[in-house]
Amino acid sequence: MNAPLLSIDNVSVRYKLPGGGSLTAVNEVSLDVADSSVVGLVGESGCGKSTLARAVCGLEATSGGSIKFKGHEVRKLGMRRRPEELMRIQMVFQNPYASLNPRRTVGSQIADGLRANPQQTSWSVAGLLEEVELPSDVQQRFPHQFSGGQRQRIAIARAIASGPELLIGDEPIASLDASLQARVATLMRRLALEAGASLLFISHDLAVVRIIADEVAVMNKGVIVEHGTSQQVWEQPQEAYTKRLLAAIPAVDGLGTLPGEAAS
Ligand SMILES: Nc1ncnc2c1ncn2[C@@H]1O[C@H](COP(=O)(O)OP(=O)(O)OP(=O)(O)O)[C@@H](O)[C@H]1O
Ligand SMILES: [Mg+2]
Repeated sequence: MNAPLLSIDNVSVRYKLPGGGSLTAVNEVSLDVADSSVVGLVGESGCGKSTLARAVCGLEATSGGSIKFKGHEVRKLGMRRRPEELMRIQMVFQNPYASLNPRRTVGSQIADGLRANPQQTSWSVAGLLEEVELPSDVQQRFPHQFSGGQRQRIAIARAIASGPELLIGDEPIASLDASLQARVATLMRRLALEAGASLLFISHDLAVVRIIADEVAVMNKGVIVEHGTSQQVWEQPQEAYTKRLLAAIPAVDGLGTLPGEAAS
């Protein structure tokens, strides 16, 4: 069997605290992301989701374990150029301005992405804008001239343009209206899979994650406490923590079923 696209093996990340001590934000976590799959990572604020995502991108040093992307060990990036093999990981953040340059037109930023990805010739700037449901005549506009939801879709188009094999969304829908969240999440899943990439989708919202993820990992206080197919985790949660997360979902997903109640 081939190695998974991303393999996180027993990884810990520790932050040094100003006073001296340290905080273990990620504690011996193991998680794989297979080719062409969507994995959701859920858990409450502060449980270590972003820290893990940053370690996967080489933005945070690990203090134990190993992270392999396509068989290559991921290490914290220094000032040196990003190694070629890590260019195939793209991240979309909660704040679209973290992925977009406010001073350049959206067309030129998507074009940059396409230039970074010369092997992939089937996309065009207009085609990508169409994929994220924006008219192609917006290319000359700047990021601030869009709504939050549009801006996030542009950030997704920009990430897809550069031909990722792994797309990571760190709370990419958290800044959007509830009515838009499922739509943007579904779009992200579709585009990632169409582009031949896998998606690691981070959110505290299990209701949305369950719609788009094949598998869900539940994180609590730096540890993955439960991991299974979305259906298993939603319908038969094993851990008390997961049950609490499910019980905390206020309005259900519009299907009229409660967590634990099998949709028929
Ligand atoms: N640079 C840092 N230095 C010290 N501690 C940090 C740093 N960044 C994060 N932490 C701490 O590490 C823990 C995990 O933070 P992290 O940002 O990974 O959580 P998260 O699950 O992404 O939360 P949220 O859902 O709010 O984004 C938290 O206790 C946080 O306070
Ligand atoms: Mg976070």
